[in-house]
Amino acid sequence: MSEAAPRAIRHIAIIMDGNGRWAKQRGFPRQVGHERGVEALRRTVEACRDIGIEYLTVFSFSSENWKRPAEEISALFGLLRLYVRQDLKRLKEDGVRVQVIGNREGLPEDILALLLKAETETQQNSRFVLNIAFNYGGRDDIVQACRSLVAKAERGEIASSQIDHQAFESELWLGDTPNPEVLIRTSGEYRISNFMVWQGAYSEWYFTDALWPDFDEEELHRALVYFGSRERRFGLVSEQVG
Ligand code: FPP
Repeated sequence: MSEAAPRAIRHIAIIMDGNGRWAKQRGFPRQVGHERGVEALRRTVEACRDIGIEYLTVFSFSSENWKRPAEEISALFGLLRLYVRQDLKRLKEDGVRVQVIGNREGLPEDILALLLKAETETQQNSRFVLNIAFNYGGRDDIVQACRSLVAKAERGEIASSQIDHQAFESELWLGDTPNPEVLIRTSGEYRISNFMVWQGAYSEWYFTDALWPDFDEEELHRALVYFGSRERRFGLVSEQVG
């Protein structure tokens, strides 16, 4: 893709859906679909970075995915291990900062160590931030932010009158990251699935029938063109924003 991202887009978030169906359509085990999903993730990180997007947040394991068969969970954990082991060096060199959002409780020790390593070794990078939502749920995020605010109030650090949108938002896992202007979901499903519940309140949603392993620069470009065609009103009327 040659042109730069529209100026207004700093943050894109993606529900990478359809790995299983992609594999099934081709008679492959689901694992193959997930592996191709990792390749699509690599392409997307590079494409976003190249066009000047600052933040990319990807949903790679939801708090609901624990309900999947043990074999599938183990495959998804395996992929995260593989991704960090294979890509960390390149991500570091390419100026990518890796951040992991989600609940860390209940994750295997080696995964925790790997996530920490990825975060620590890339924390000096500032060119591009890749947020990996792992063991993530938007409602869990809101609950943990509430707990954190209540704990502050109990310590006398904040009064209830000081709790506004900004104070609340700063307790969320994405903290000071700007809210995503564009949210993408692949595979023809029209659901939010507990992703970016707070942060997506005014995002433009772009749904595509493409299955995640097929997602590429062209698909990203279509999402950006779609965004460019939308008038973002934030509750105002058209004349006010024009
Ligand atoms: C949805 O496909 C995809 C997931 C649950 C996992 C997404 C993970 C990756 C793309 C790769 C791993 C990423 C990292 C950062 C290691 P699905 O299995 O729900 O597909 P289906 O709905 O067609 O069955």
